[in-house]
Amino acid sequence: MSAFLVLGATGSVGENLARRLVNDGCNVLLAGRDADRLGKISKELCCPSALVNASEPTSFERCFKATVESFGEVTGVANCVGSLLLKPAHSTTDGEFHETITANLFSAFATVRAAGRLMKRNGGSVVLVSSAAARIGMPNHEAIAAAKAGVEGLTVSAAASYAARGLRFNAVAPGLTRSRMTQHLWENKTSAEASTRMHALGRLGEPADVAAMIYWLLSTETSWVTGQIFGVDGGLSSVLGRPKVAR
Ligand SMILES: NC(=O)c1ccc[n+]([C@@H]2O[C@H](COP(=O)([O-])OP(=O)(O)OC[C@H]3O[C@@H](n4cnc5c(N)ncnc54)[C@H](OP(=O)(O)O)[C@@H]3O)[C@@H](O)[C@H]2O)c1
Repeated sequence: MSAFLVLGATGSVGENLARRLVNDGCNVLLAGRDADRLGKISKELCCPSALVNASEPTSFERCFKATVESFGEVTGVANCVGSLLLKPAHSTTDGEFHETITANLFSAFATVRAAGRLMKRNGGSVVLVSSAAARIGMPNHEAIAAAKAGVEGLTVSAAASYAARGLRFNAVAPGLTRSRMTQHLWENKTSAEASTRMHALGRLGEPADVAAMIYWLLSTETSWVTGQIFGVDGGLSSVLGRPKVAR
């Protein structure tokens, strides 16, 4: 049976993914930063858990090892850790920039490095999370766009390094998704309407939309897919904003 590690399992996308995998009968180790939240989810889903913090480099490898200890192997990993900083460069402090890089790019790098060390013998699938902001210029996204563009470069390079070992690396790039980190945006009517108009499909994303793509990339159905970045964004990165309905 497959064994999965979900990093950032206390987040909206990570938790949705974890529930999906558990409902499907998979072995799942849940990793998160917030011990209380993590404890509640792991108790409810009856899954083992481990703490992960992007400021603690070794915590990622510890989570991989805990997955192997629990299930004998790790066949798929999703890094759903991340944050959002909406500020133009001129008012972003060094601290905010470094925090953004740590949560988004370093967490992805630490995931890739641990996978390279602990999954290279049997292969498997690793899914990272980028953002539509990595590919289209959106105001006030300088730090997060830089971090997520790094995630995309990391994905394709890791895919090349480890393809011969059957270890696949792909990324998903969500548009604005109704999760905890974006609550202030989708709860505000004006900002929600403006954001919705930018997504051609006429709605914001749900954590389940993003988790569904990650789930698919973790599965063996995508065993011939590596080094790809999949927009899960209602058209945001590739289609002009909300069109009128054609009659
Ligand atoms: N929502 C969107 O519109 C959107 C758009 C593009 C990309 N994304 C990406 O999608 C992924 C999932 O985010 P989400 O939408 O599910 O948001 P979320 O609900 O806020 O989840 C974010 C997760 O990241 C964890 N985290 C943040 N900083 C961390 C750190 N330094 N160390 C360890 N864990 C940390 C949070 O842990 P705590 O529970 O401890 O806070 C939480 O589990 C992220 O990579 C995000 O950047 C989201």
